[in-house]
Amino acid sequence: MEPETKINVAQHQKLSKIVYKESGIVLNEKKTTLLIARVAKRMRLTGTTSVSDYIRLISNSQDEYNEFIDATTTNHTFFFRENKHCEYLIKTLDKKRTLKIWSAASSSGEEAFSIAVQMLANSFSFSIYASDVSNSMLQKGKNGIYPKERVQKVPLPILHTYFQSGKGKWQDYVKVKPAVQQLVTFEKLNLLEGKTFDKFDIIFCRNVMIYFDTPTRQKVVNNLYHALKPGGYFFVGMSENLRGIKHDFSNVLPSGYKKKD
Ligand SMILES: C[S@@+](CC[C@H](N)C(=O)[O-])C[C@H]1O[C@@H](n2cnc3c(N)ncnc32)[C@H](O)[C@@H]1O
Repeated sequence: MEPETKINVAQHQKLSKIVYKESGIVLNEKKTTLLIARVAKRMRLTGTTSVSDYIRLISNSQDEYNEFIDATTTNHTFFFRENKHCEYLIKTLDKKRTLKIWSAASSSGEEAFSIAVQMLANSFSFSIYASDVSNSMLQKGKNGIYPKERVQKVPLPILHTYFQSGKGKWQDYVKVKPAVQQLVTFEKLNLLEGKTFDKFDIIFCRNVMIYFDTPTRQKVVNNLYHALKPGGYFFVGMSENLRGIKHDFSNVLPSGYKKKD
C-alpha cells in the first residue's frame, strides 16, 4: 500500500515542534513540502502507512525519533565549498602556532577535510574538531569515503596527494588518506546545548544558522564567541551574516569575523 503522507495542521505543528526542540531548525508552513518529503521518506523506510502512525512510531521508538531528526536536517555540502575563508586564513595566520579549529555543523566532513588538506599543503600544524547533530553524517565523516562528484572542486595536486582513488566497486569514490583523517576528530554536538569542546583559534559554523530563528542564532553566536580564543576567527556561510545579532566581533571579510585580541 502507498503511504498516506497528507499532513494536517496539528501533525505539522507536532512534528515541527519536535524538530525545533531538538535541532533549532524552523520548519514553518513555508517548509511544509520539505517536512512532508522527509516524513514520507522515513515512512517508506519504516513501512508506516499514515502520518499519525509515524507520529506514534517516533513517540515509542527513540531510534526512529533520532532518525527523524536526522532526516529533517539539511546536510548538503561538498569539498572546497566557499573556500575564500580558508584562503584568507592561509594568507593571514602565523605558521609557527599550532591551531585548534572547529567545524561546527560539519555534516559529513567535507568542510573539515577541505580545511585540513589545505592547511597540510601549506605546512600548518593544527587539529580539527568536526561536530554535527546528525549521527549518520558523523559516521560518513568518520568513514572518510566520498563519491567523486563531491571532490570536483579539489585542485588536482591536492586530490592526488591527500586522497586515494577507489578500485573495483569503489571506482566512483575517493577516500581521505589516514594522515589527514587522524587530524580530524568527529564528535556529536548539538549547537543548541551550548557546549563546546575547548577554546579554538578558528570556528566555522557555516550554512546551518540559516535554518534557525533569531533567538537561536543569538544563543549559538554567543556560545561560539566564548569558545573562541582572543583574536580568533569565526566564519558563517557566504549567504549568511550576523545582521540582527548582538556581538563583539569585527567584520574582516564577507561572512568572516574576528574576536578582539
Ligand atoms: C548544510 S549542512 C552545512 C555543512 C557545512 N558546514 C557546509 O557549510 O557545507 C548543515 C548541517 O548542520 C547540522 N545541524 C542542524 N542543526 C544542528 C544543531 N542544532 N547542532 C549541530 N548541527 C546541526 C545538520 O545536521 C547539517 O549536517
